[in-house]
Amino acid sequence: MRGISKRFWLFYTVLLALTLSCQRQKEKEQHFVIGFSNCTGNDAWRRTMLHEMQRELNFHSQLEMIYRDAHESNQKQVQQIKDLIKLQVDLLIVSPNEAEPVRPAIELAFQQGIPVIMVDRKSNSRLYNAFVGADNHQIGKIAAQYAAQLLGGKGNVLEVNGLPGSTPAQGRSNGFREGLSAYPGINVEVSLNGEWRFESAQRQVETFLKKNATHFDLVYAHNDTMALGAYEAFSALGRTNKVHFIGVDGLAGENGGMQLVREEILDATLLYPTGGGESIRLALDILNGKRYNKENTLQTTVIDKHNVRVMLMQAGKINDQQVMIEREQYKINDLNNLYARQRSYLLVLMISLIGAILTGVYIFYLLRSKQQINKLLTAQNIENLHQKNLIAEIATREEEAIQAKLQFFTNISHEFRTPLTLMLTPLEELLRLPIIANNKGIFQDLSLVQKNALRLLRLVTQLMDFRKMESGQMKVSVSENNIVDFTRQIFQAFEKTAAHRHIDFRLISNRPTILAWIDVNMLDKVLFNLLSNAFKFTKDHGKIFLKIVQDEKRQLIEIKVEDNGVGMSEETGSKVFERFYQGDNQKKYLGTGIGLALSKEFIELLHGTLSVESNLNEGTIFTVHLNMGNAHFAINEILQTSPPIEQLEAMGLMHSSVLQAEVKDLNAVISQNAVSAPYSLLIVEDNPELSAFLFRKLSPEFEVFLSNNAHDAFTICLEKVPDLVLSDIMIAGLTDGLALVREIKADLRTSHIPVVLISALGNLEEQIGGIQTYADAYFSKPFSFQLLHQTIKTILKNREILRDHFTAEVAGSIRSKQFNSKDKQFVNEFMALIEANYRNPDYSVDRMFKPLSLSRVQLYRKVKALMNCSVAEYLNMVRLQKARHTLSQGEHTIAEVAYESGFSSPAYFSTAFKTKFGISPSEFKKAKAN
Ligand code: FRU
Repeated sequence: MRGISKRFWLFYTVLLALTLSCQRQKEKEQHFVIGFSNCTGNDAWRRTMLHEMQRELNFHSQLEMIYRDAHESNQKQVQQIKDLIKLQVDLLIVSPNEAEPVRPAIELAFQQGIPVIMVDRKSNSRLYNAFVGADNHQIGKIAAQYAAQLLGGKGNVLEVNGLPGSTPAQGRSNGFREGLSAYPGINVEVSLNGEWRFESAQRQVETFLKKNATHFDLVYAHNDTMALGAYEAFSALGRTNKVHFIGVDGLAGENGGMQLVREEILDATLLYPTGGGESIRLALDILNGKRYNKENTLQTTVIDKHNVRVMLMQAGKINDQQVMIEREQYKINDLNNLYARQRSYLLVLMISLIGAILTGVYIFYLLRSKQQINKLLTAQNIENLHQKNLIAEIATREEEAIQAKLQFFTNISHEFRTPLTLMLTPLEELLRLPIIANNKGIFQDLSLVQKNALRLLRLVTQLMDFRKMESGQMKVSVSENNIVDFTRQIFQAFEKTAAHRHIDFRLISNRPTILAWIDVNMLDKVLFNLLSNAFKFTKDHGKIFLKIVQDEKRQLIEIKVEDNGVGMSEETGSKVFERFYQGDNQKKYLGTGIGLALSKEFIELLHGTLSVESNLNEGTIFTVHLNMGNAHFAINEILQTSPPIEQLEAMGLMHSSVLQAEVKDLNAVISQNAVSAPYSLLIVEDNPELSAFLFRKLSPEFEVFLSNNAHDAFTICLEKVPDLVLSDIMIAGLTDGLALVREIKADLRTSHIPVVLISALGNLEEQIGGIQTYADAYFSKPFSFQLLHQTIKTILKNREILRDHFTAEVAGSIRSKQFNSKDKQFVNEFMALIEANYRNPDYSVDRMFKPLSLSRVQLYRKVKALMNCSVAEYLNMVRLQKARHTLSQGEHTIAEVAYESGFSSPAYFSTAFKTKFGISPSEFKKAKAN
């Protein structure tokens, strides 16, 4: 979902950016900046020019004009042109003040690649792109002809010049003079510089007239403004009579040339168009790369009293039209702006619309997803509810089942107690009878029965305690006791075991008497449990300390059981008080997993604490803390009298009998472990009682080796090469007993040894697993010793039969299904070695075990086990078989046969042959010959 959302906004942003950038691109492509440098803008003609330009620009929104007014200053105009160049205008329009001073600046612009249009006036250079303006020389000529007409070819003329450095002034003057050259009667008496301005002209003319009485028939001024100035001067002096005035420009507006003609101030004016509109159109063509003319000459005409009305009308109309056009133009511009705005709005609208549509689609998609998720969630909720109900139902049923099971356990535990008591009581009696005590075997068997019955009783009691604790029926009954004495009773029960196992076992107390309020039954079980654990996990020659400390300061009594046994991992340590938890170590002892949990609960019922500290392979400390005094118990929990000392002693006694039976078993093992017999067995069992029991039962008939772990067991197999291995599946050392079988069967040196497995868990998979690793038989506990005994004997017997078979077929090949591949491999190797060497009389067993990678004992035992003869016997047998075969062919003497078969002397050969076959070699040879 988040991915889709991200992609959506990205797409939308890109769309927007693209649309906007296209729009900007379009506008940028069409935009041009024109620079216009004007010599002056301070007169009607120039204003008209600018007005026309502006009007034209209005039609072309892509054009922008930067206007600079030089106020008739050459210097200023040069600077302004340079500034426009810097501004990087796209085109430059110049109307220079004077031709020469402004020329370099114009050439600079042209050389920098800026197109240059000269308008009205030129410079003294050809470096420009185009010129727009009327032909001033022509204007001068037409003015001359008109003057000649007015004067009838005779008269004096006063010329009022424009700025002499400007090209129109030069053209108009030269043209005029050229035109008059055809009329010798007309003289240009004087030329005055009116600088294109009214005031200058008026001043110059008035000054001249005041000084000179010359009569002038005609005044020719280079523009209408100067013509009016001259007229004013003449009229001020009252000398206008019979004087004609001609001007140039012919503007239509107020005080323009046309009005002056109409008012008969001027006789005529020569139309001089400004070229404002034309120059802008030309600029656009140049900028758009269109073809254009360099010289664009504007037309001129004479306006006088004959056509001035028409011209004024026309101009008025043109003006009206232009005003209209302008208005329309403004409207168009407004519309354009409106259009542009609306287009922008539309664009924004469009983008918004697309955005809205996309958002809509996205929202729709989200809604659909949400609906689907909701549907899914609803379905899941229903399913969850269903599951919950189901779980609740199952939990209730489970709880009921657990309760039923627990009830069953309680009932059955109760049921166990009676038969156990009925077994234990007569047993105790029996064990006391001298006839039994004197018969070692029976005494040991009965002791074993007693010990295990007591253990069962303890387990049953634990189960019942557990159930009581569960149902909250465990009642506390505390009495005041000397806890040191109390603990000593339990301590003493373990002393014999400790002595036998060389364990440094001590009871340490900081005071001889420490009074404590305890429930003797509970604390007895706790301490017995803690000590049993300590003994279980401490190796022989280890240490176990039982420490009691009265801590007055903390008002505590502390009992510690410390050992330096196998210890626990951190994980095991943290779970050791959990019910049914069996730590790594305990697995092999198959404990119930409730002893420590119960102990903790007992101590907690006494308002104390039980904690553990342990380090793997370093040891374990269990600590009990009990509060001093009895203030922490309820009244009904406090007993007024302490239990009699006999009761405490009885409890200790019971522990002793359990523990002592173990010691007896171990003694039995040691005392009987010296039997020599035709067959040897290896018993691999880590439960000392079962080990002792099997040893006791099997040692009268077999040589028995014992091992309590798989690693040692395999070493014994290599060293002693027993005839059979009897192993428990759950043993320490290797992963399990199955791994031991696999190892025995995979090694050439031990592969022939049959293995019988015993397991506590008699499930089918395990049996199959056991047989698959080539175990020869499998028993599950409880097993019948008789059946086990018989099975061992049968297996050994079968081996014997097999061996006989080999010896009978010494030279033949061996094909027996009962042999595993390792055995076959060994037999083949062994026979091949004999076959290769029997001819050598010095060849003996000393040279054999090395090539077969066996020790002398291993070779001897293996050959014995598989072939039931010694290596020497077998070698001898092969030699005799070979000799008999050679003899039967009758080609060799007896002596030859003897040496050939590896016998050192013919005499020894004869004796051996006779012993084996009951006939001497010579007799045998003779019999065969016949
Ligand atoms: C305006 C003006 C016109 C004239 C032109 C010549 O400044 O003097 O009257 O025709 O310039 O450049």
